[in-house]
Amino acid sequence: MNSTGGKFIVTVFGGSHDRNVGCFIDGCPADINVPEKFIQQELDRRKPSKQAFSTKRHEEDKVVILSGIRNSRTTGGRIELLVENNDIRPSDYDKLGAVPRPGHADWPLFSRYGMERRGGTGQASGRMTVSMVLAGAIAKKILQRYKVRIFAYTTQIGAVMAVCKPDYKNLERLRLKNPLYCPDKKAAAKMLRGIESAGKDGDSLGGIIECVTLGLPVGTGEPFWDSAEGVLARNVFAIPAVKAIEFGAGFGVAAMRGSKNNDQFCVKSGSVAMKTNNSGGVLGGMTTGMPVVFRIAVKPTPSISREQRSVDIKTMKEVEIIVPGRHDVCIVPRAVPVVEAVTAITFADLILRKN
Ligand SMILES: Cc1cc2nc3c(=O)[nH]c(=O)nc-3n(C[C@H](O)[C@H](O)[C@H](O)COP(=O)(O)O)c2cc1C
Repeated sequence: MNSTGGKFIVTVFGGSHDRNVGCFIDGCPADINVPEKFIQQELDRRKPSKQAFSTKRHEEDKVVILSGIRNSRTTGGRIELLVENNDIRPSDYDKLGAVPRPGHADWPLFSRYGMERRGGTGQASGRMTVSMVLAGAIAKKILQRYKVRIFAYTTQIGAVMAVCKPDYKNLERLRLKNPLYCPDKKAAAKMLRGIESAGKDGDSLGGIIECVTLGLPVGTGEPFWDSAEGVLARNVFAIPAVKAIEFGAGFGVAAMRGSKNNDQFCVKSGSVAMKTNNSGGVLGGMTTGMPVVFRIAVKPTPSISREQRSVDIKTMKEVEIIVPGRHDVCIVPRAVPVVEAVTAITFADLILRKN
């Protein structure tokens, strides 16, 4: 299944070692202002950087608009966007032969499709997040019409936790002050040291990203199956390496009493509001008008340059492998714009469905 959405329908294509990666979008309203420069800026935020956490792969990632946008405005027709893959090195993966990388998708893909391995067999690859960011750029522009704002930031890398009070105006600004998108400067410095140290050990680190959506109209989300939480979770789990999601107080609700967990209503600037936001901005699968807040856990990059045990599927012998190739020591900072993109795709669709 390569598509998601009921009205704003995003279909992804390509893979890490194909010529292109990209997306088709059906159902985008006409006359949305989407300058190519904006799509490119969003792509640039996802690109590998020169920082210690990033892969040394060179990904130029220049957007090509094939259809659906003319003179910076959507036409109402199918939008087709792609990015060429310029730094393909399938030989890195040929070296692995029939030995699945621990933690990567090779083993189930190999068993199910028996296909030739090519960078996690193409679609199970961080490269697919290019398609998400392309579609996310269009979705963000639709949401701008509704004055909806989305931003994500890093709250944890390895064991280092940031202090992030829910002062969203400040968090939105402070997260841009360092390459990790972490609003807590001191924690960010510690995180960078942790990543450098893991990289030197030939190892990797995971972390947590929090995402905030402001300004969503009350009642966005489709009961029954397509609740706001349900669709968000489905789409967010398409991002490779995401292992968990929680909304608002999340797993913390288990230990609370109802009197503590319930968000009590009040009137703020003439509108119904809530004194707390343990529900994370969603009740009954629909948005409440409070910020939609969720956190995701990203696992440590599976491809590490340490010796690991695996099995040669052809000979059925246990072997040692050292994964070749150029990999991110920590995926988290590069996943931040991807989480925003997927959230934008989800809410653009749910708003269009509601209206
Ligand atoms: C932006 C981004 C970059 C990634 N880069 C790498 C990488 O360099 N090496 C790697 O092994 N995995 C990388 N991954 C993660 C793998 O693609 C992912 O773990 C794998 O496809 C298995 O899927 P799963 O972890 O969701 O089960 C990246 C993921 C993202 C979101």
